[in-house]
Amino acid sequence: MCGIIGYIGYRKASEVIFKGLRKLEYRGYDSAGIATVSGKGISAIKDIGRIDDIHAKRNFLQLEGNMGIGHTRWATHGGVTQKNAHPHTDSTGKIYIVHNGVIENFDSLRAALAKKGHKFVSETDTEVIAHLVEEEGKKEGDFGKAFANAVAKLSGSWSLVCMHQGEEAIYLSRNGPPLILGIGKDEMFCASDVPALLDYTKRVIYIEDGDLVRFTREGYEIKNKGKKVERAVHTVTWTAKMAEKEGFDHFMLKEIHEQGGKIREALAADASGAVALLKGQQNITVVACGTSFYAGLVFKQLLQSRLGVNCDVIIGSEFAYARTGNERVVVAISQSGETADTLSAVRLAKKSGAKILGITNVTDSSLWRESDATVNIAAGPEIAVVATKSFTSQVAVLSKIALTLSGEKQEISSLSDASEQIEQVLERAGELETLASRLAPHKDFFFIGRSLSFPSALEGALKLKEITYLHAEAYAAGELKHGPLSLLQKDVVVVALAPSGTSLPKTISNMSECRARDAQLVAFSDSDEAISKSALHFRMPRVAQLAIPIVYAVPLQLLAYYMAVKLEKDPDKPRNLAKSCTVE
Ligand code: AGP
Repeated sequence: MCGIIGYIGYRKASEVIFKGLRKLEYRGYDSAGIATVSGKGISAIKDIGRIDDIHAKRNFLQLEGNMGIGHTRWATHGGVTQKNAHPHTDSTGKIYIVHNGVIENFDSLRAALAKKGHKFVSETDTEVIAHLVEEEGKKEGDFGKAFANAVAKLSGSWSLVCMHQGEEAIYLSRNGPPLILGIGKDEMFCASDVPALLDYTKRVIYIEDGDLVRFTREGYEIKNKGKKVERAVHTVTWTAKMAEKEGFDHFMLKEIHEQGGKIREALAADASGAVALLKGQQNITVVACGTSFYAGLVFKQLLQSRLGVNCDVIIGSEFAYARTGNERVVVAISQSGETADTLSAVRLAKKSGAKILGITNVTDSSLWRESDATVNIAAGPEIAVVATKSFTSQVAVLSKIALTLSGEKQEISSLSDASEQIEQVLERAGELETLASRLAPHKDFFFIGRSLSFPSALEGALKLKEITYLHAEAYAAGELKHGPLSLLQKDVVVVALAPSGTSLPKTISNMSECRARDAQLVAFSDSDEAISKSALHFRMPRVAQLAIPIVYAVPLQLLAYYMAVKLEKDPDKPRNLAKSCTVE
């Protein structure tokens, strides 16, 4: 996934775009570039590396002009090279474009254009689009029509921002990845996501699939299927401050510390539409990816154990192969609401007549707009690439839905106790920093848990591998003896989640099996017995069963964070990853 941005108005375009790209860097940070139009024509600076590093070397702000586009890249087509960085241009150097998505027919388009003499300097699909617009321009004098004709020839996914020399206007097209129009006074903006706009405007339009937009500093026009369309103007509730670190070293640490308060907001979310949609359903399918998939596993356990309802949790990218085609109701969980794997599952399920419940952190996201019922987890902007507060807020919302359906709303209060228990853990962050220093030299980590601790173990392993690049995997505690136990030896770390409760005795047995193989046991537990069996531990508060996935996630997030910092990795921008995977 990439970050794209455009600006036209009275300000220095390179300054607006540079600041905006820094707010979008969580979407991809292999390389970045800016192009602006001034009296001297179009000038561009692009290079590999982080935006601030490129700026220190090349000085983006030397670019003049009040119109421009910019891009921060997560490589899909072509390696991480200066030539593959966006913006891309055509043969004339008068058309510039940035793109988020994947053009699936770019090979054939490139071959056809090459036959007409077009020469390409990059390996990207995006450069082909610039040349396609140029070619269409030879047949069609009007640039807007040439742009539309070029777009009509594309297949795949894209959000495009395009400008050309000689016209004070920017053109947009969306088919899949998000694209937002920001409305200012005598200035207009576009971007992949809201944080890039918050310093200038809160009035936004969510561009829809099939929309073609032309905007100038005075206004905009949107067409879809050749006809003018009106789109609602929304006022964003997020503030610029919410998209800042506010004194924390990293967004990830800030977002971990927000969880106590965010759980209360999640529990206050309006879930009535969700309950109405799910009530009486005997078979519920959940689709999600990554951390959201683990939140789905918690939902499954609650629906099955509390309601006797059958719940199938399917990874988004596997849904096409695993579905029955008879799904009546599908719960899609997605922090961004833009994950392509989850959206494609939703669209497939809808084709078979399923009703969709969207659980997301971004209102007006694609998932939000394509769902029959929605719940906003209200976690606020989550800028760090790794999910933290969105996971605990997802679990809180899903637990509230399950308990409401099972008629056990009185138990929701044990979830709100989780807020205080999270604060208790956060106050002892220093102990986790010390534990992280002890564990940082190790290379192999297993996370184990039973029942509602198993999804937490999965989440803890994902956090660690995502930001430290160390090998970490999670297993149901009882599963180790069915094979993975052969990997245990001295120096292998086993993080055991061992909360008091019915599953504790067996978890302690599994811990003993690990210890008998000389593994380095690290207990996260409120149980003296479990702690006594471990070389290292973090004593947890006693937690209600329902709150385990929420409260136990927090120390594991902090452990991963401090280990990443100790290992001099950037917790906010881990290599190879992006915040929302808007390509399949
Ligand atoms: C979690 O730390 C990762 N960033 C990733 O697994 C993420 O949860 C997954 O890509 C799903 O994203 P979504 O919730 O926005 O759909």
